[in-house]
Amino acid sequence: MANVAVIGSQWGDEGKGKIVDWLSSRADVVVRFQGGHNAGHTLVIDGVVYKLHLLPSGIVRGGKLSVIGNGVVIDPWALLEEIDTVRKQGLEISPESLMIADNASLILPMHGAVDRAMEVARGSSSIGTTGRGIGPAYEDKVARRGIRVCDLADEALLKQKIENLLLHHNALLKGLGAEQFTTAQVYDSLMQISGSLLQYAGPVWKRLDEARLRGEKILFEGAQGVMLDVDHGTFPYVTSSNTMAAHAATGSGVGPRSVGYVLGITKAYTTRVGSGPFPTEQNNEIGAFLGEKGHEFGTTTGRKRRCGWFDAAMVRQAVKTAGIDGIALTKLDVLDGLDEIRICVGYRLAGKEIDYLPSSQIAQENVEPVYEIIDGWKESTYGARSWAELPAAAVKYVRHIEELIDAPVAMLSTSPERDDTILMRDPFVQ
Ligand code: IMP
Repeated sequence: MANVAVIGSQWGDEGKGKIVDWLSSRADVVVRFQGGHNAGHTLVIDGVVYKLHLLPSGIVRGGKLSVIGNGVVIDPWALLEEIDTVRKQGLEISPESLMIADNASLILPMHGAVDRAMEVARGSSSIGTTGRGIGPAYEDKVARRGIRVCDLADEALLKQKIENLLLHHNALLKGLGAEQFTTAQVYDSLMQISGSLLQYAGPVWKRLDEARLRGEKILFEGAQGVMLDVDHGTFPYVTSSNTMAAHAATGSGVGPRSVGYVLGITKAYTTRVGSGPFPTEQNNEIGAFLGEKGHEFGTTTGRKRRCGWFDAAMVRQAVKTAGIDGIALTKLDVLDGLDEIRICVGYRLAGKEIDYLPSSQIAQENVEPVYEIIDGWKESTYGARSWAELPAAAVKYVRHIEELIDAPVAMLSTSPERDDTILMRDPFVQ
């Protein structure tokens, strides 16, 4: 099956945009399968910068179908605004180029309100969410009271569902001292946009099955990263969806064998936005160097990202739990000029060395990284397009990472430019 799933192997922000764009130019269908507008993918095409949050990256390339699967939580206002923005940038979006799963769950205004009020109430133990209502919307889905895209087509049922939803959320908002919502308010605002959204809605699973039968290439575009996965990440400092490639199947309505090659996007160092454990964090001049050189500010919230050394033990864990076949290593050039580079190869916990990140929140906070120190390089790797252009120490760093994480480097990205990529393996070619 010549399909590819692209996921982040760290805490998100690994530089998926460029790789996904490169791959989507080879795909027939591009599918988002989890997350929502908490994600932010930046694509630079012919000098035009597109900032996508909910729209699949295939949307910037003509002649492809972009799909928002049932595993995504959709804020309809955010989606319609994003469609409007990219249309103004010259892209054509129509029901022929965009399909939304009619069984996807909606993010409604009370979800954002509850998300933000809960964060305030958590005080110093806040998760540092994006405040977009992602968690509360997924909670409603699992609690079976959520509203889905298809519900917009049935006005009477919709009203009843909103009433039921507000029973829950208004109680919460009241307790949190936040403003409550009325059924009419939510219903009226949904009615204003329901037609605009429903024109794209349909049975995504069926369209993907047709694609499979026709031998079309599908790219599953993940958001966030493995360590933000609600099951396998640094719980509770995670997002509320499964960010794994396995979820590409359930999040879009295809069988597990349809997912194909799993490419893990991996940054040559580590960053994290929001709260939570980060064993290799460098709250010092190294962290500042990486943040500044790597332009580490969030695409969605503009927040400064925390920065640290590459954590090979954590990425190896991501390779195993997510079934990553190969990685795309990004931002190697940010390390140019350092005298020495550290790689975390395991942890020390209560006097013992371990080679994995334990599940317990307290243990994750207390692990100390065990580092290997290797020589840095002074030459620039920026824009390299072949191994021969890389300094020997940089090649050594990359080869050592492959060994430590137990996965090969399929692609090496050396600048935000599309062509500055060293390709070892085309993930679409079996
Ligand atoms: P939520 O997804 O808004 O609930 O936020 C939960 C956690 O995931 C927070 O630490 C966010 O900073 C983080 N997060 C959510 N989306 C992204 C992303 O696209 N990149 C990096 N971190 C993210």
